[in-house]
Amino acid sequence: MTRKVAVLVGSLRKESFNRKIAKAFEKIAGDKLSFDFVEIGDLPFYNEDVEAAGAPAAWARVREQVKGADAVLFVTPEYNRSVPGVLKNAVDVISRPYGKNNFSGKPTAVIASSPGALGGFGANHHLRQSLVFLDTPVLQQPEAYLGGVGNWFDESGALTNDGGKDFLTNFSAAFVAWIDSHSK
Ligand code: FNR
Repeated sequence: MTRKVAVLVGSLRKESFNRKIAKAFEKIAGDKLSFDFVEIGDLPFYNEDVEAAGAPAAWARVREQVKGADAVLFVTPEYNRSVPGVLKNAVDVISRPYGKNNFSGKPTAVIASSPGALGGFGANHHLRQSLVFLDTPVLQQPEAYLGGVGNWFDESGALTNDGGKDFLTNFSAAFVAWIDSHSK
């Protein structure tokens, strides 16, 4: 069985380590998970006045992607010890309009990473704070704060770090089990 996962990457950078981690995860998960990347760079800032006047097409697109998924995966850097604004905006957009929270009940996992040593711990936990309110069951273990990722990839963007590969293999198995145990 293949579970459909909406994937939100918290970086817009072309050479983003977080996007490379998401791509490596997709490969490692094989046919157990099918990744649908939710592109968030073109989303207008959330504004209730705009919602009332008619949601922009980009908002409708990302809401549908998450609504149609079996699960959600966040892979994000940490900006100033928190969630990058572009990702928080996407979470806000997808959680609305009021009463139509598209995250509700979706099994979710969070990976944070950084070239630095702390591995995006602050971003991971700030995101989890929103996910509590959004009523998503979030995978608890293994926790994913991946530090030192700046030299994890070769020039083609492929993951070459053995520890990283092992971690994502274990994380993938845990996420699959988590999705299955929370499927409705
Ligand atoms: C950062 N970076 C960073 N790193 C970290 O570990 N903790 C932090 O609080 C921050 N803060 C921060 C703020 C801003 C505005 C930027 C642009 C960067 C560094 C960050 O981890 C690094 O740029 C990563 O490479 C970003 O992830 P991607 O784009 O490679 O996925």
